[in-house]
Amino acid sequence: MATIFVSGAHMPRTLERLAEVARGHDVIFGPGGLGAAEWREAAPRVDALLASVRDRVDDAVLAEAPRLKLVANVAVGVDNVDVAACRARGVVVTNTPGVLTEATADLAFALVLAACRRVAEGDRLVRAGGWTGFAHDLLLGRSVHGATLGILGLGRIGQAVARRARGFGMHILYHQRTPLPDGLARALGATFVSTLDELCANVDILSIHSPLTAETRGLFDARRLALFRRGAVLVNTSRGPIVDEAALANALREGPLAAAGIDVFEAEPKVHPALLACENAVLTPHIGSAEATTRAAMADMAVENLRRVLAGEPPLSAV
Ligand code: GLV
Repeated sequence: MATIFVSGAHMPRTLERLAEVARGHDVIFGPGGLGAAEWREAAPRVDALLASVRDRVDDAVLAEAPRLKLVANVAVGVDNVDVAACRARGVVVTNTPGVLTEATADLAFALVLAACRRVAEGDRLVRAGGWTGFAHDLLLGRSVHGATLGILGLGRIGQAVARRARGFGMHILYHQRTPLPDGLARALGATFVSTLDELCANVDILSIHSPLTAETRGLFDARRLALFRRGAVLVNTSRGPIVDEAALANALREGPLAAAGIDVFEAEPKVHPALLACENAVLTPHIGSAEATTRAAMADMAVENLRRVLAGEPPLSAV
């Protein structure tokens, strides 16, 4: 019999699936997460941890759980888990890649459209009773159709964004460490740019699709944000700490950025007050994969990973 610790609040679907695979095992619920008493009390006997992006699984947490064999993250990103420390302690880490690709690309594109066409500003104006009627110069935005889109990270989600961009007649430039094979980039209509600085300087809209790593933390700082064209738009649905929020607010206030669409933040759920004050930023609460079938698929994959590791089988997606 294994002990499974379920950290934080999960969807009913996750709990139903878990109930199916956890028969014969001991399941402990820790709605307060890894900082709370339930975890401290259970940690010494926990074999498997079902975690979410809210949980910081660092070496100190691992030290509290010497029997731990698995961290099953219900997310594709694993920056909340110290994967090297897990490896050193023989703990398997799994994630949920693939199943959230299209949903996240949909939200990235929603933010592209909302930021460029000032959708949230318009909504606020109407609700506040400030709309006095049609006006030729009311809330003039930027065109998405025909614009040049920069994609940082043409992985699964970046490619799904590129497919949407083609439907909007956009020109696509991309940057990442290693260019895609020519045929794949050509099929997506995406042209490789060898530096991120060059990408920033040559696009109307830039969408970030990189994992958070030591190399990507703080990539969009004041210096880099200053390289954008006047009127450019930045969209981030990957991880907040890739963008310096204070510098972003400044670039939205003073230029060169005209707008931003931001779903992820440096210290969630806190948002930098200067960014909150930017009317030209569309801010959403980390909902990239928040679509019912997607979240169900993520739950199924995480629980199946858990089942497999407890049964001594290889997981669907080990990191
Ligand atoms: C959510 O942000 C995820 O990484 O799945």
